[in-house]
Amino acid sequence: MTHILMVCLGNICRSPLAEGIMKSKLPSEGFNVDSAGTASYHIGSAPDRRSIAVAKKHGLNISNLKGRQFVVSDFDRFDYIYVMDASNYQNVLDLARTDADRSKVKFILNEVYPNENFDVPDPYYGGDDGFQNVYNMLDEACTKIANDLIS
Ligand code: 4NP
Repeated sequence: MTHILMVCLGNICRSPLAEGIMKSKLPSEGFNVDSAGTASYHIGSAPDRRSIAVAKKHGLNISNLKGRQFVVSDFDRFDYIYVMDASNYQNVLDLARTDADRSKVKFILNEVYPNENFDVPDPYYGGDDGFQNVYNMLDEACTKIANDLIS
């Protein structure tokens, strides 16, 4: 089993979308995909309605996901930890205990733009088009991740 964790700040906009998209591209028998936020604001919350809507538009149902906070033991449970932006990256690395922990943490857009450390922009305070933009970025990155893991 390969375990993949998607991480953003609130775990209500970007990472639940990344979780839903990633799950749709991998066989569930071999892959476990989850998401978490570095902050505690939205523990137990459903994804933002705009993330639910853009997922639905693309045939994905993420409405049952529940927000949770990233915890140190996630380094033990997951093989790959994909962060959305530089702030998430720093927050997760601050919790890493070892080089093995640190080596699991990757900018998700580096899958498409290697070594650039580009951010998936936080769409929380913007309009609906921000969510479509995030969807497109995550879809491209998750396609690459799936192709690399399956081939
Ligand atoms: P996310 O977006 O990190 O993509 O889930 C955010 C959601 C909520 C907040 C910030 C970002 N917030 O400040 O409550």
